[in-house]
Amino acid sequence: MDIRLLHPSDIPHVQHANITNLPEKQVLPMPQNQECYFMKYYLYHALSWPQLSYVAVDVSRPKKTPYDYPRIVGYVLAKMEEDPPDGVQHGHITSLSVMRTHRRLGIAEKLMKQSQRAMVETYGAQYVSLHVRVSNNAALRLYRDTLGFKNENVEAKYYADGEDAYSMKLELGFIREQILDEEEADEDADEGEAVGDVGKAGERAGVNGKEKSKKRKVRVGRGLGVGELVERNESHKS
Ligand SMILES: CC(C)(COP(=O)(O)OP(=O)(O)OC[C@H]1O[C@@H](n2cnc3c(N)ncnc32)[C@H](O)[C@@H]1OP(=O)(O)O)[C@@H](O)C(=O)NCCC(=O)NCCS
Repeated sequence: MDIRLLHPSDIPHVQHANITNLPEKQVLPMPQNQECYFMKYYLYHALSWPQLSYVAVDVSRPKKTPYDYPRIVGYVLAKMEEDPPDGVQHGHITSLSVMRTHRRLGIAEKLMKQSQRAMVETYGAQYVSLHVRVSNNAALRLYRDTLGFKNENVEAKYYADGEDAYSMKLELGFIREQILDEEEADEDADEGEAVGDVGKAGERAGVNGKEKSKKRKVRVGRGLGVGELVERNESHKS
């Protein structure tokens, strides 16, 4: 399985997955408050926020001809809220689905996590929001229990068929912290490993790469014995 960014050429396959997987069978004229969308709405996402939408592609099926299209078994379509009413920069999950044949393999979880990370890395999103049918137990379990979303409120008759939606939200501060930790770890790795006795001494002392290299500098200085150098009086020698 390959999880990669959504390309505009994937859109017909994503739309197919969407129509197959979601209960709302009708494509309605308005792109808001529904589950099935016009092609141009997908394209709008792919072109406006190209970092945020991902597809899961089944790469196990060999390509027989160059015209074979990729087998898309899941996708997440996401965006940044354009005019956030609360003034806080945040992302929004527009649609998520996984083909029945590929469910309970962790695909939706991975797609969501990729998108959430990209929201923070690319746009500095503070949180991510979404809507879900009150009857959608599988999605509720995924959002609440696996990903840690919290219920904000119930939006009555949100969907075109009259069903209510939970509006949910996940704060993304923990991802910012993860990214900072990774950057710090990379910086430490870039300092390089200390070698020989110095490296071993550093390891024994349980210090990181940065401290090891500092220790090495001090040892070289001491090794020269600069503090003990004195001017020798050689006048007694003939
Ligand atoms: C909801 C959906 C996207 C989940 O996709 P998935 O790839 O099967 O989900 P994952 O394998 O990543 O599941 C992660 C966790 O979510 C929960 N979960 C997922 N499906 C579940 C189900 N049918 N019943 C109970 N919990 C479920 C579980 O906690 C699961 O972890 P586990 O398998 O270790 O127990 C998929 O069922 C789907 O496409 N449904 C139709 C479309 C839809 O409802 N989309 C959401 C619209 S808001």
